Amino acid sequence: MNSNLNIVILAAGAGTRMKSALPKVLHKLAGKSMLSHVIETAKELLPSKMCVVIGHGGEHVKETIGDDEIIWVTQEEQKGTGHAVLQALPHLDETGSTLILYGDVPMIRTETLREIVQNGAGNHCVLLTTELADPHGYGRIIRNAESRGIESIVEQKDADETQRAIKEINTGIMLIPNQNLRHWLPNLKDNNKQEEYYLTDVIKMAVDGGIPVIASHPENNWEVYGVNSRGQLAELERIYQIEYANRLLADGVTLIDPSRIDIRGHLNCGIDVEIDVNCVFEGKVELGDGVKVKANCVLKDVTVLDGTVIEPFSYIVDSEIGKHCKIGPYARIRPETKLSDKVHIGNFVEVKKSSIATGSKVNHLSYIGDTEMGQNVNIGAGTITCNYDGAYKHKTVIEDNVFVGSDTQLVAPVKVSYGSTIGAGSTITKETPANELTLSRSKQVTLSGWKRPTKNK
Ligand code: UD1
Ligand code: CA
Repeated sequence: MNSNLNIVILAAGAGTRMKSALPKVLHKLAGKSMLSHVIETAKELLPSKMCVVIGHGGEHVKETIGDDEIIWVTQEEQKGTGHAVLQALPHLDETGSTLILYGDVPMIRTETLREIVQNGAGNHCVLLTTELADPHGYGRIIRNAESRGIESIVEQKDADETQRAIKEINTGIMLIPNQNLRHWLPNLKDNNKQEEYYLTDVIKMAVDGGIPVIASHPENNWEVYGVNSRGQLAELERIYQIEYANRLLADGVTLIDPSRIDIRGHLNCGIDVEIDVNCVFEGKVELGDGVKVKANCVLKDVTVLDGTVIEPFSYIVDSEIGKHCKIGPYARIRPETKLSDKVHIGNFVEVKKSSIATGSKVNHLSYIGDTEMGQNVNIGAGTITCNYDGAYKHKTVIEDNVFVGSDTQLVAPVKVSYGSTIGAGSTITKETPANELTLSRSKQVTLSGWKRPTKNK
């Protein structure tokens, strides 16, 4: 833990331009709320205290994030960024410094924040600034004409022509010693165009008090982009995804088109993994060496071992897939499924809460649920495990080397013993004996001379 560091995250704004019933900071970037991104990044710095200032929809925010390590501070009325930090002041340590972050600036990187904290060692103020081609809307950094040191920040609305031409902007992120905050925040004035208590005015107070203000800069400007509208959120989403895709490419993953992959969580890949277009990875996904994921697949919380191929349009959730399996196209694999090596799951096959051992095949149009399947089993097209009696789920056991003919129903609880063969079209309700042919099928009859009805002319 860094006992010299407190963090305050501002998240009280209304987010009117989102036009949403959901508080702005709960809108998702890459499958996770913007505020969660900021909290996770902030936690990497191991602060001794972390406050989140909430206002609009505050209770909802607090409940959704559900983190007891956070000190939740309510700002009843949004009277400006300085007023927001003032609400957190009673919770901050006497000594050390406070880093100010924003719940709607979700892509700030830990490395950038670490540098700010380092620059602040020895009770300096640190301001994260950057140059923007279009600085419109941001606070501008006013520097001393000779020393080039930071003197103050002027908000867009309070700035004159010359000041508006300045391209160096305030990102809003800053580090201020607590002993100074304690004096400065209560002395902020709202004598500006927006009649707000600007946090940015503490910079002038620092300069006036002879406390050095050091500038830090992010490596990438996207780290400091804020979200005010759904358009800006969508823009950030694309930046997030292309950055992730570029990291995968650099790590040796083949992406047929890096602009057509979405990762909403963590994707870990072995060597020579190949991912075709329009795949979505959610939660924690691990792909072993040489795994191929063809176009339009969705994988959520899945492990896939070496050499397995996932054919197009497959949807796999909360499952483990072994080595050299062949899945899909159009396979649906539901939670708690475990496939061993060389298993084939074909088109329009649904598997749920089942284990399937090495070399077994379910290639066409089947439902396998609550099933324990042995090795080298072949399940014919259209086979269904009838696992649900309307009240309870029951188990099907299929032992090694079983062959199930097409269009069979296995009514659970039931066991198909080692080496059994089931005739096509059977409804199996009782345990089948090992190595025998079992079938249930009505006898085929022919009505000789029968005529099809025809319409009267
Ligand atoms: C602020 C900075 C500006 C900077 C810009 C960067 C001030 C006065 N200005 O301007 O220099 O360039 O950010 O994006 O700080 N918030 C609260 N409570 C409040 C007011 C704001 O929690 O009473 C939160 C908002 O939810 C938002 C953040 O603080 O996340 C920034 O507030 P906003 O009003 O958007 O500040 P800007 O005018 O953009
Ligand atoms: Ca803003």
